[in-house]
Amino acid sequence: MEKIKIAFYDTKPYDKASFDAVNENYEIEYIESKLNSRTAVLAEGCEAVCAFVNDNIDKKTIDRLYDKGVKIIAMRCAGYSNVDFKAAYGKINIVRVPAYSPHAVAEHAMALLLAINRKVHKAFIRTKDFNFNIAGLTGIDLYGKTAGVIGTGKIGRAFINICKGLGMKVIAYDPFPAKDADFEYADLDTIYRTADVISLHCPLTDDNNRMINADAFSKMKKGVFLVNTSRGALIDSHALLDALNNGIVRGAGLDVYEEEGDFFFEDFSNTIIHDDVLALLISKPNVILTSHQAFLTEEALSGIATTTLDNLDKFFNNGELVNEICYQCDAGRIAECRKSRKGRCF
Ligand code: NAI
Repeated sequence: MEKIKIAFYDTKPYDKASFDAVNENYEIEYIESKLNSRTAVLAEGCEAVCAFVNDNIDKKTIDRLYDKGVKIIAMRCAGYSNVDFKAAYGKINIVRVPAYSPHAVAEHAMALLLAINRKVHKAFIRTKDFNFNIAGLTGIDLYGKTAGVIGTGKIGRAFINICKGLGMKVIAYDPFPAKDADFEYADLDTIYRTADVISLHCPLTDDNNRMINADAFSKMKKGVFLVNTSRGALIDSHALLDALNNGIVRGAGLDVYEEEGDFFFEDFSNTIIHDDVLALLISKPNVILTSHQAFLTEEALSGIATTTLDNLDKFFNNGELVNEICYQCDAGRIAECRKSRKGRCF
C-alpha cells in the first residue's frame, strides 16, 4: 500500500535524524523552505504537512494547502501563534506537540540567567585570548533573590523548581493559577516591583502581545534580569533597549525575538542584517541571545518526532485527536468545541 506523504517544511539536519529514527508509516518529503503562501504548492500530493514555529500559516497558506488536498497540519512544537486557526477551522485539522521536554526549555532559561549574571560569555572570550583579567565580571548571588515567573505551566514550573534548587524565593503570575502550587502567586505589578529576575513562560496571545513594554519596565526593580524563552513578541524590543540603556534591566537572556522569523535558524554570518533593533540587542555586552534553541536536546527532539507521528497516526486512523487545537479551544471556549464529544475539533 502506498504510504501517506508528509510535506515537512523548514527541515534542519536534526529534524531529519530524529524523524527518520522513528518513522515507519509515512513517506516524508523534507523541504528546506519555510511554509508560507508561496511554498504551499510544494505540498502537492501530500495529505499532511509538518510545520514549525516560524512558518507563516496564514489564511492564504491554509487555503492553498487545502486546495492541494492537505488534511492536517502537524505542528512539531508547542506554540502556535503563527497559525490562523479561524481560517483552518472546518478545512484543515491542526495538531501540535503540547509537551516534549519542559525541562529542556527551563534548563536553557536558567543557563541564560546564570551566563548573563556571571558574564560567562565575556569570560569565555577573554580566556580564549589568554586574558585572565576578571575585572568587570562581577555578578550577584542568586541565592536568596526573588524570581518572578510569568506563566506557571509545564515549563514555568520546571523553571521554578530549578530556582528553588538555587535557594531563590519564587513569586509567580498566571491567570489560571495551579491548585497544587508550592510557591506564591502575585499580581504582575508586585512581580515587577519585587523580582530580581523575571522569566517569561506564558504563551503569546492577543491579550499579552508586548506585555513587557515601557510601562512594565517603569515599574520594575532597577537592575532586574529578564529572561525570555517563550515568544519574542511578549517583549517590546525598543522598550527593552531603553531599559538596558538606563540600567532598569541589568542583563537579558533571550532565546526568542519578536522579528525572529526573518533570521532565526539560518546563517547570516556573511551578510548585513537589516534589523537594527536585533543588531543593537546583540551588540550589548549584557545581552545573550540564542536563536530559539531552548528546546534543542536529544530527549526533546525524540519526543517531538514520536508525538508528531502519533498525532498523524491518530488522525488517519480516526483515533481521538488529544493534541488537536482549533480557534474554539484556543479562545478557551472548549465547551463549544466538538473535541470533547467527538474526539476531534471538526
Ligand atoms: P503550558 O501551556 O504548559 O503553560 C502556559 C501557562 O501560561 C499556563 O499555565 C497558562 O495559564 C499561562 N498563561 C496564559 N496566558 C498567560 C498570561 N497572559 N500571563 C501569564 N501566564 C499566562 O505551556 P508550556 O509548555 O509551559 O510553554 C510555555 C511557552 O514556552 C509556550 O507557549 C511557548 O511559547 C514557549 N516555548 C518555547 C520553546 C523554545 O524552544 N524557546 C519551546 C517550547 C515552548
